[in-house]
Amino acid sequence: MSVSAAIILAAGEGVRMHSRTPKVLHTFAGKTFLSRILSAVQGLKPGKIVVVVRHCGQQVADAARKQIPDVDIVQQDEIPGTGRAVQCAVTALGSDFIRSAQGPIVVTAADMPLLDTQTLSSLVSSHESQHNTATVLSMSLDQPFGYGRIVRANDGSFEKIVEERDADDSEKKITEVNTSVYAFDPHVLADSIAHLNANNDQKEFYLTDALAAARTSGHVGVCKAADTLTVSGVNDRIQLARLEKAYHLRICEKWMRAGVTIDDPATTWIDDDVVIGQDAEILPGCFLKGSTKIGEGAIIGPYSTITDTVIGEETRVDRAVIESSHIGARVDIGPWTHMRFASNFADDTKAGAFVETKNATVDHGTKVPHLIYVGDTHIGHDSNLGGGTITANWDGKNKLHTEIGSGVHIGAGNMIVAPVTIGDNVTTGAGAVVRHEVHDQSLVFSENTQHEVRNWIPRYERTNENWDFDKNMPRADEKSDQSSQSHKGE
Ligand code: UD1
Ligand code: CA
Repeated sequence: MSVSAAIILAAGEGVRMHSRTPKVLHTFAGKTFLSRILSAVQGLKPGKIVVVVRHCGQQVADAARKQIPDVDIVQQDEIPGTGRAVQCAVTALGSDFIRSAQGPIVVTAADMPLLDTQTLSSLVSSHESQHNTATVLSMSLDQPFGYGRIVRANDGSFEKIVEERDADDSEKKITEVNTSVYAFDPHVLADSIAHLNANNDQKEFYLTDALAAARTSGHVGVCKAADTLTVSGVNDRIQLARLEKAYHLRICEKWMRAGVTIDDPATTWIDDDVVIGQDAEILPGCFLKGSTKIGEGAIIGPYSTITDTVIGEETRVDRAVIESSHIGARVDIGPWTHMRFASNFADDTKAGAFVETKNATVDHGTKVPHLIYVGDTHIGHDSNLGGGTITANWDGKNKLHTEIGSGVHIGAGNMIVAPVTIGDNVTTGAGAVVRHEVHDQSLVFSENTQHEVRNWIPRYERTNENWDFDKNMPRADEKSDQSSQSHKGE
């Protein structure tokens, strides 16, 4: 049977995060808690997805709608508690929906970044195969502190859930806890939340009390989650860090099993949509983020951050930061290279040490080594840029394009002032300032006069003995035959 609706509880402030950002919009391995829970719930293909919001409600609602445009947003009122949140959601669904709903309603907290569709499906299967009226997803923890405990009757059946703050000493010893994920038959949900009260330490309406109430309608089941990581909640930043670390280790292990060498999993962070080819090697201190793809046999790191970028086979990336770019095969990058968005380097190219690139397309075999800036530029194949060269792409208002041909040899320290086009097979002299179009096969150089004043004495050391103040030149030169100054054009 299909799930008629899924209710996501996202109205809480997340007080224990001490943050200006609502808890559900904090990120976990590159995606927000909310985004993760929405994807997991979407996998169930429920008839409706309802997100209950209140704290920073507009912000949370906007984020939910961005991912699922037809999501139902329900505003929780001023009465606090997970039970109240569900009351608001059920009221919004309406009695007609509850009466005619064909499958269970799944309810879940939104502060469980690793909850997945598979775990939700196993809860729904267990709910249906046991013909329960309500089923709670539980887990067992060595340190259950903070969670609601699952209290079972003598025969082992579900009795109630007691929150940490309301538990007595013997209840606190229970290690089986509530994950805050449930499946309910729609009418049972509507009935069992109807009479909630706030007779507890937090003076809130607890959804957990609805489970005890549901026992009057039939069997309430407990479905134990196989994997505690998947159902761990995050209430504060310490839990966030611990869970994220455990998760990243798990991702590293997945890639190691698939044939990727990861030298130090403890310092390697790989987002979950990243794809890594066989025999790639990830050296310590790397962050592979977003939709990054690493080609087979590539060597990445140490200390590289690569975001939303494709890296080709056998490419070498050493201490680089690369964002939203496309890098071909056998490219040599680094060390200390910053490739900003749309840096598209073809196969067998190079971006050397202390090079910054942005919106730059570099064709096959071209080298951009040594302290260079290339922005808003296309460079043809088999060209080379001399060390210290800058494409001056900004006139103070607009970003301007530079076009450099193939087989071009740009000398060291060139200033290429956009908008400008340099043809194929051009050579430029060291220190050239290129402001105008250069035709194919040309040599370009700029007049750079070299001046030399011999026996130079700095102003603060000048005396009548060593300096002729009238001629404003060193006295040493008056005595010598050599010309005092030489001006050599280049
Ligand atoms: C809840 C459970 C606890 C369980 C734990 C698992 C209750 C009373 N307790 O406690 O048994 O072990 O989760 O992590 O349900 N929310 C609302 N509106 C509110 C309050 C909360 O929508 O008025 C939402 C929050 O945004 C959050 C979720 O409900 O996504 C859980 O709230 P939280 O305050 O974290 O509950 P816990 O104290 O963790
Ligand atoms: Ca929680």
